[in-house]
Amino acid sequence: MKPAFVFGTRPEIIKLSPVIRAFERKGIKPLLIHTGQHYDYEMSKIFLEELDLNGIDYHLEVGSGTQAQQTGIAMMKIEEVLIKEKPDVVLVQGDTNTVLAGALASVKLKIPVAHVEAGLRSFDRTMPEEINRILADHASEVLFAPTEEARQNLENEGIREGVYVVGNTIVDAVLQNSEIAERKSKILGHFNLKPKLYAVLTAHRAENTDNEENLRKLVDIIKSLPIKVVYPVHPRTEKKLKSLNLWKELEKSENIILSKPLGYLDFLKLLKNSKLVLTDSGGIQEESIILGIPCLTLRYNTERPETVKAGGNILVGLEKERVLYYVNNLLNDDRFYQKMANAENPFGDGRSGERIVNILIELYKRGELKVRSSRFI
Ligand code: UD1
Ligand code: UDP
Repeated sequence: MKPAFVFGTRPEIIKLSPVIRAFERKGIKPLLIHTGQHYDYEMSKIFLEELDLNGIDYHLEVGSGTQAQQTGIAMMKIEEVLIKEKPDVVLVQGDTNTVLAGALASVKLKIPVAHVEAGLRSFDRTMPEEINRILADHASEVLFAPTEEARQNLENEGIREGVYVVGNTIVDAVLQNSEIAERKSKILGHFNLKPKLYAVLTAHRAENTDNEENLRKLVDIIKSLPIKVVYPVHPRTEKKLKSLNLWKELEKSENIILSKPLGYLDFLKLLKNSKLVLTDSGGIQEESIILGIPCLTLRYNTERPETVKAGGNILVGLEKERVLYYVNNLLNDDRFYQKMANAENPFGDGRSGERIVNILIELYKRGELKVRSSRFI
């Protein structure tokens, strides 16, 4: 069996690493295709190194661009590789432009697509990610839904065949790396931090960074936080903050530690020892509930509603009063804090990678890993 992985951004590398590892444990060396959507050392290579993914077969160097440029160029370059390599299945993960490009290029060559983290929906079609998720799911043959809720979303769109609820591979990644992070990372000392006396913040979503009014709201919130905050800044956000002269404003504040994006081990250690997290990231909403860190999400919707239902995540948007209300509650009301911190992880037991690989191998053996002419029963 010859599986190929197409990925290109930080979260895809992190969440696919347990699946790649699981294939390797079966003696199968998958083909690794990196589109180069993320290309800075801190956004890509550091994760390949830390997660031991050094055997990348193709670096496509797609880079940044408009939505269509990035997706279109990636599609063309992926197609060339797939024609040459003829894999039995193409695995993609999540909702980036790389995922959409990989899924479309592959299915049109009649190579089945397996979508890891299928069925997530924010129900906000103005987000590029939502369009990518929907289209990737509909182009896929095998859909690995992390939760029952995600499976239900697929069913609501008529996708019933080829769907498997396997948990989220982020649990595998956290479990496989958090002990190593605890041992190896020196990040607390580096920033002179004491466990549980600081918050972590990340923000990079288009809706929070590309809109000046929203970015100003975000900066105002960060400056008002009543706790030390560590903010590893995504390059997209760094560029916007600098172009609006907001970077300097943040730098002036003693409570704020601005940093480059961190490697996975440093980030996990930082998150694990924090008091709370404020974020618009998808992966961090998941990791915080896995690690028992209360999460306030700087968005008005989430494609991870399981975290909110479980009680570990609250959607606070960019409303300063609402953010500060919940931060103060978390800092001053221990019962409230413990309730959020003890919310149950809805994403499974950390064996998703293994399940995904077993299912794909089984389908392959049965001759069922192929693009069907109709998916409807
Ligand atoms: C992408 C995904 C988003 C995901 C995020 C993970 C899409 C539509 N969005 O957003 O869903 O949450 O990755 O982090 O696919 N840049 C650099 N260096 C890099 C990468 C990016 O400087 O290594 C800058 C460039 O100015 C670029 C901008 O960041 O234009 C945005 O990068 P892009 O890959 O288009 O989207 P992300 O915001 O990273
Ligand atoms: N992450 C990291 N360093 C950072 C910020 C995030 O290693 O400085 C990790 C984080 O632990 C999570 C993933 O990157 O696993 C989330 O990626 P991101 O927020 O860029 O994308 P999203 O999950 O929103 O698609």
